[in-house]
Amino acid sequence: MDADSVAKYDLPGHLRSVPDEIEVTGLPVTGALPPELTGRYVRNGPNALPGQTTAQPLAGPGMLHGVRLRAGRAEWYRNRWVRTGAFQGRSFVTADGRLDLTATSANTHVMRHADRILALVEVGLPHEVTPTLDTVGPCDFGGRLTTAMTAHPKLDPVTGELHFFGYGMRPPYLTYHRLDAAGALVHSQEIEVPTGTMMHDFAITEHYVVWLDLPVTFQWGLAGGPVPYQWDDAYGARLGIMRHDEPGARVRWFGIDPCYVFHVGNAYEDAEGRIVLDAVRYAPADFAAMWRVARAMDMTLAAGRSVLHRWILDPAGTGVTAREEQLDDRSVEMPTMNDTRVGRPARYLYTIIGGAPNSQDDCAIVKYDIESGKSTSYDLAPEVAIGEAVFVPSSGGPGAPEGPRGEDDGWLISIATLRDGSASQLLVLDATDLPAGPVASVELPRGVPTGFHGSWLPDEV
Ligand SMILES: [Fe+2]
Repeated sequence: MDADSVAKYDLPGHLRSVPDEIEVTGLPVTGALPPELTGRYVRNGPNALPGQTTAQPLAGPGMLHGVRLRAGRAEWYRNRWVRTGAFQGRSFVTADGRLDLTATSANTHVMRHADRILALVEVGLPHEVTPTLDTVGPCDFGGRLTTAMTAHPKLDPVTGELHFFGYGMRPPYLTYHRLDAAGALVHSQEIEVPTGTMMHDFAITEHYVVWLDLPVTFQWGLAGGPVPYQWDDAYGARLGIMRHDEPGARVRWFGIDPCYVFHVGNAYEDAEGRIVLDAVRYAPADFAAMWRVARAMDMTLAAGRSVLHRWILDPAGTGVTAREEQLDDRSVEMPTMNDTRVGRPARYLYTIIGGAPNSQDDCAIVKYDIESGKSTSYDLAPEVAIGEAVFVPSSGGPGAPEGPRGEDDGWLISIATLRDGSASQLLVLDATDLPAGPVASVELPRGVPTGFHGSWLPDEV
């Protein structure tokens, strides 16, 4: 990032872009890496090009940071920009007014489905990358995907299907899609909504898709900006449930108190057949505060708070509103879970405290026991910023604990970066015992900017 943009935004060091792509082998490890962790941890995030003054740092080109672990060793660190159309200088809006879904940043998430590793951003097509993070190119699933693809698809752990959606500023405003377990796009269905809203995430259960139709709408007056969405008091707020096993099923909507949600923790059907949705909720004033920071990157502004919240929707009842309940009063974000329980009842959610750019909270990784309401945490030193903690189930491979596997039997992987940006570590924690701290810390060869989302990609066995 050039000096002008640093001065303009005055970003803390742990958010500043790195200037180049490197590869370093043989990384120092403190503690003992579980040998069963054999694969790659890959994380995405915005990273301006050298000399580039992005209009908005969080919309910058995606950069993947990867760490290769094998048999107790940290073999390499490597970082690569995702070569999208935007990276090559093309505009998202073409000269004749069309949207170029390949000219986006691909900067939000990275995941693997059916042997494709995809870098994702919610306003464009996914971009396929190789296991060594080189870009293959945009992926439209054989020409079948004609909308953007959310950065938060949901993998059904039983069927292997990948549920996702695309939203846009022009009709169709919202489209539901599903890949089969082999990665073929087998279903696309337009969902009727009044206008384009910023829909960052959604949820699935065994039988339903859960839509979050919330009052942050596309506004033409902001169209020149990189994130042309704004809170809209007139829109209202609602959650929708739709059977995903009935082609063409209609959505049933439930009103909720106005709020915004970036991230879903989990949803499931309870014993009475009700849909329970746990997610991280911003009250209107907190969204306003967070959105000012996200758009302006002004670190002098107050941080918006976001708390774990529950909504209960009853498909069998006659109600038109959802029951709501706040689950905790701490400000958390980036919820993760054991992905083998997605859409099913799950006991544990993992979140981070202090991840927002201007948060005044010291960072921590928090493990919620949803059943008991209790939580445990790993608290970091004040000079450290933490990113999303990805849960990796214990595989039962070499070095894995013996005995039956509990839901939390596994590891949490996250990148911690000094707030001055000078150094980073990959932390591995035992998810059954967060307060014990990392079982292993991998010294990364550079300060890795705190980014968005990532995945553990185990070697195929
Ligand atoms: Fe996200």
